[in-house]
Parts: sequence; C-alpha cells; structure tokens
Amino acid sequence: MDEEIKKTPKVMLTGDRPTGRLHIGHYVGSLRRRVELQNQGDFDEMYIMIADTQALTDNAGNPQKVRDNVIEVALDYLAAGIDPNKVTIFVQSRIPELFEFTCYFLDLVSYSRLIRNPTVKAELGMRKFGDSIPVGFMTYPISQAADILMFGTNVVPAGEDQEPMVEQTNEIARKFNSIYGNVFQEAQILLPNSEAAKRLPGTDGKAKMSKSLGNCIYLSDDAKTVEKQVLSMFTDPTHLQVSDPGHTEGNPVFTYLDAFAKDEHFPKFLPEYKNLEELKAHYRRGGLGDVVVKRFLVNVLNDTLEPMRQKRHELEQNIEGVYSILEEGTRKAQEKASSIAFKARRAMGINYFENKKLMEKQQKAYNRAHEQQKALEEYLAKSKKK
Ligand code: TRP
Repeated sequence: MDEEIKKTPKVMLTGDRPTGRLHIGHYVGSLRRRVELQNQGDFDEMYIMIADTQALTDNAGNPQKVRDNVIEVALDYLAAGIDPNKVTIFVQSRIPELFEFTCYFLDLVSYSRLIRNPTVKAELGMRKFGDSIPVGFMTYPISQAADILMFGTNVVPAGEDQEPMVEQTNEIARKFNSIYGNVFQEAQILLPNSEAAKRLPGTDGKAKMSKSLGNCIYLSDDAKTVEKQVLSMFTDPTHLQVSDPGHTEGNPVFTYLDAFAKDEHFPKFLPEYKNLEELKAHYRRGGLGDVVVKRFLVNVLNDTLEPMRQKRHELEQNIEGVYSILEEGTRKAQEKASSIAFKARRAMGINYFENKKLMEKQQKAYNRAHEQQKALEEYLAKSKKK
C-alpha cells in the first residue's frame, strides 16, 4: 500500500479552449501561476491541454476559428514562459481515450445533475442557443472529467468558473470507483491567489474580458495598442477633477495594478512613490490625476509583456517547430492516458482481448457443457440398445 502511494506521481493538469489569443486576464488568472508551478518543480508531471474538442462544443459551425487558434494558444503559452521540457502541452482531440471514457462517464451522471452546473447555466445565458442547445455542449463537463481523470490529476490550476467542473469530476471518480473498483483519484482545484487575479475586469470595467466586447488586452498586443487600450480605460466615475478624492476599489486601473505592479516598477517608472499603497493613498486623498496612473500602468504592462512579445516573435519564425512541440506533447500525453485507460477498462471488465482469465473461464464452462452433453448422449444411446 505504502509502495503504491509512493509510486503515484504528483500531477498537474489544466487547459484552455482555443477560441482566441490569450489576454492578460488569462495570464494573471492562470498562466502566470502555471509558469511559477513549473519553475518550483513540485510536480512529477504537468499537462496543459489545448481543448479544441471542448471549443467545438459551441463552435461546431466554425471549425476554422478553433483550428487557427490552436497555434495561437500554443504560441501564447510558450511566449509566457511555459517550457515544453517541463510541461507536456497537448491537443485534446488527438487523444481517443478521452472520448472513450467520456462515453462511460456519461452513464454515471444523471440528467438532472448535469443541468444543475452553474457555469454551464451562465454560459447558456451568454450563448443564446435558443432551443438548439448542442448535446455536446451540455455534456462538456463530463468530457472535462475525462480530461482530468485520464491523467491521474491531483491539482487543476484554474479560475472559479471551473470549480463546478472539478466537483463533477470528483463525483464521477467516486461513482466509478464504487462500482468498478479503485481506479481514479480525486482532484483539487487551485484557485488564483489574489482577488485581482481571480477576476480581472475588462478595460471598460465590465466583469470579464471578452473578445466580442473589445475590452481585452492580449498578451501579443504591441506597445502602442496597450497604450491606447489603457488610456481609454474606465476609471472611477466620481473622480471628475484631479483634486477630487478617488476610489481605488472597483477601479479597473488599480485592479490591473494590483495584478501587475511590482515594487521595482516604481523607481523605474514612477519614482515619486515607493509602492502601490502610496500611490493608492494619494489617489484616495485627491490630487492625483487618472492620466498619471494610466501612464504608469502602460509602462508596467509593457514591461511585463515585452519579453513575451519578443519570445513570440521568435517562435513565429518557426511555426512547424511549434507544431512539433504539440505533436510530441500529444504523443506523451496519449501514453499516459492510455495506461490509465488500460487499468480502467480492466476494472470495468471490458478488456476482452487481454482478459485471458475470462477466456479460460468461459472455455471451461463450455467444455463442461459439452462433456455433459456427450455423457447424456452416450447414456441415451446405451439405454436404447438395451
Ligand atoms: N473548461 C476550460 C475553459 O473553458 C478548458 C478545459 C478543458 C480545462 N479541459 C480542462 C480546464 C481540464 C482544466 C482542466 O477554459
């Protein structure tokens, strides 16, 4: 037993739908954390999935969007510092075991449980499917359970919206284990560690960055675009004149600074202040204009994004090389998923072709039946002769 525990690797897995380039909300919400975890080296195995199959659940009619964004998301990962030697980056659709087990997991979840998922409910509200909700969309949390379980995942770094998915995953793991025996382990979500990172608002102050609202700053945006986006940002609507006291809470410019500003940015870009607390205090007192704060934010963001832009630019010279990274990662990921699938099929007793014991047992039963039949026939033949 102890031996078994020791041998179980510590596994991290997370993923993104390839429906667009990644923005700074993705970065502070999850991507930055993944790079930190990678560099801490606490995990034996780390997987990041480009969830193209999940992206298709609400983009079936637009496969080109999904296809084109697989490479964009891969470029963003690598540019942000994900090291493919430490993290296995892979493409969901190329791992058949995930869909095989999605099918079995579908049988372990009731319809009423399925439609209770609050994240799916919120998404339905935004998607406007009318009465044409794709079945695949409704069931994607079950497919996501396969994503998580088929890698022996312990930790899923993700945003709050993914909590219901991890819960559903663990319910499936428990149900499977109770019916078929202990195969899957439960996973834990690792939420962003600050309020600003949990929910970075759009530049317009709306709750979420979204491509359709045009309120995003992308990791690959150039310095000029970042400047334009920041200077047009929503701030505190009660801070009309520089001398007015301002609010930093709920003010997206300060939320962004919470997420991105480090003490060392101050001597570099705004030496009048020692740190963010001092800057906030001045804003609250009054006498500090929005433009000064915004200019500082432009510098902080561009300082953070510049190394990623350079890395991305390099990677963009070798798209084939980036696909090779995905191909190699997908091969590695499939190896892992297939070894867990092997155990799970064995537990379910559907490993027909490898199950020598079953064959022997069934053969014996037939041999016995044939022998009995023969004995009966012989007996009948004998009694006739008499
Ligand atoms: N649902 C996630 C998203 O919308 C993407 C995803 C797919 C995922 N499979 C996953 C996240 C497994 C964590 C673990 O971004």
